[in-house]
Amino acid sequence: MLKREFGPARVPVIGQGTWRLRGPEAVDALRTGIELGLTHIDTAELYGTEEMVAQAIEGRRDEIFLVSKVLPSNATREGTVRACEQSLQRLRTDRLDCYLLHWPGPHPLEDTIAAFEELRAADKIRSYGVSNFDVEARVLPACREFGAVLVGYSPFDNLPEGGELAAVAVELHATRRQVALAFLVRLPGTFAIPKASTVEHVRENAGGASLKLTERQIARLERAYPVHVRSELPTS
Ligand SMILES: NC(=O)c1ccc[n+]([C@@H]2O[C@H](COP(=O)([O-])OP(=O)(O)OC[C@H]3O[C@@H](n4cnc5c(N)ncnc54)[C@H](OP(=O)(O)O)[C@@H]3O)[C@@H](O)[C@H]2O)c1
Repeated sequence: MLKREFGPARVPVIGQGTWRLRGPEAVDALRTGIELGLTHIDTAELYGTEEMVAQAIEGRRDEIFLVSKVLPSNATREGTVRACEQSLQRLRTDRLDCYLLHWPGPHPLEDTIAAFEELRAADKIRSYGVSNFDVEARVLPACREFGAVLVGYSPFDNLPEGGELAAVAVELHATRRQVALAFLVRLPGTFAIPKASTVEHVRENAGGASLKLTERQIARLERAYPVHVRSELPTS
């Protein structure tokens, strides 16, 4: 599994999301993903999945890159520290590998960052960041400027049924989802965190990590699915 630098760690480019992760196979699916190298696990106090993640990673914590998020409404200096400690309890661990502010909220960002620094100094988190913070133009160049990585969530949202995605999948004897994942993590500093509730789905998604897209296929996909720069988006 291809790994990249993520703060102080090296992390697989494809991980596992847990938003709305439910059902009889959920813990098995997470464990299968871990077996297959999808050791970056994304949760949040909002999701109600931290206990489930604790169950899936039991006995394997050191292999896992564990990410959780503080709710904006909790993100005061004291509230962030408290929320983190509660997440650690639910996750049955002593540290998070990355802690994120889930989206911009009512409390001053400096207070949240001060709490993140305090948590890092206490070894309760190894790195921190933000989620759902937008920039005027493209996000990836801004991340590069700040030395941040970019984790793409909801990679299967609005997945095209046909078109170039399906054509490339046929050429590579792969699925559309595998091509989408390989395409999304083609650039340095990028990661993707699909969520799968079944063992079969997680196996398919893990296959996306080893898929090799040719330069020509990448160019075709980039032409077919161009990045929307914020200023180009319709305003109404
Ligand atoms: N920071 C944020 O604000 C934020 C926002 C959204 C998401 N996220 C994170 O990103 C993760 C992923 O995003 P997401 O959950 O919105 O959507 P997603 O990963 O794009 O798609 C999940 C959907 O795809 C299905 N699926 C997954 N693998 C499949 C496969 N191989 N074949 C067929 N269907 C498959 C899942 O079904 P099954 O469940 O039945 O497998 C589920 O219905 C979240 O779980 C969360 O951890 C973060």
